Amino acid sequence: MRLISLFAVAFLAAGVVIAQQDSDHHKQHQDKQHQGQYQPDEDDAHSQHSGDRLHSFEDTERWVEMFERPERAATQKPEEVVAALGLQPGQTVADVGAGTGYFTFHLARAVGSSGRILAVDIEAGMLEHIQQRAADEEGGAVVETILAAPDDPNLPDGEVDLILFVNTYHHLSDRNDYLDLLSSDLGADGRVAIVDYRKEDLPVGPPLSHKLSRDEVVKEFAAAGFSLAGEETFLDYQYFLIFKP
Ligand SMILES: C[S@@+](CC[C@H](N)C(=O)[O-])C[C@H]1O[C@@H](n2cnc3c(N)ncnc32)[C@H](O)[C@@H]1O
Repeated sequence: MRLISLFAVAFLAAGVVIAQQDSDHHKQHQDKQHQGQYQPDEDDAHSQHSGDRLHSFEDTERWVEMFERPERAATQKPEEVVAALGLQPGQTVADVGAGTGYFTFHLARAVGSSGRILAVDIEAGMLEHIQQRAADEEGGAVVETILAAPDDPNLPDGEVDLILFVNTYHHLSDRNDYLDLLSSDLGADGRVAIVDYRKEDLPVGPPLSHKLSRDEVVKEFAAAGFSLAGEETFLDYQYFLIFKP
């Protein structure tokens, strides 16, 4: 009888601790919102589906609202990012983790009507959205969509001049194998560009534990045989690195 009572007390105490943790997490979330800092961004993708990250971007309409929010441009600077990539008319560019196409159409204008933009994502809904945009937007005729596997962007071998990842590289697992695949997708003088959140406490982006530091990314590319060929520092929250094999 005494043993049963002890179990009951321990069970109740564990319940109180879990409830307290939940309420603390909720309070932190509310505090951020009240301070006006909270940008749902990827925070929500990770927190809602932490056990099933691959499907966290399924709700396309919601992500359109988030990724295409007008105020994003002030810090994401898509035109400056694309200008800094120094693309030439006629080039083939892959936008891996294209999402709603936030960068895709800027890239399309940079490569012109003789170029080719491969918008790549693991979410079919995102790609359908990009196809709809491509029918209406300037430069859309050069945009093709590719449904990726989580471990393979399914790019054509040896044909890509630039592979861009914006806020996507940290989503990849088995990155060493992934980088090997990218090497074979690149044409002569091909490059890979990474724009991703600095591993700091920032008002936007994923939780700290999901981020990769700039140095970690450089190290991973070096281990896969790439060298750092360029770096831009004009973004407020992100590093911007360019690699060559
Ligand atoms: C944070 S969003 C970034 C979207 C876009 N690049 C932008 O800056 O607005 C990340 C995107 O990467 C996609 N993604 C996640 N893992 C991926 C993978 N292994 N291969 C390709 N896309 C992936 C998600 O579906 C999502 O659309």
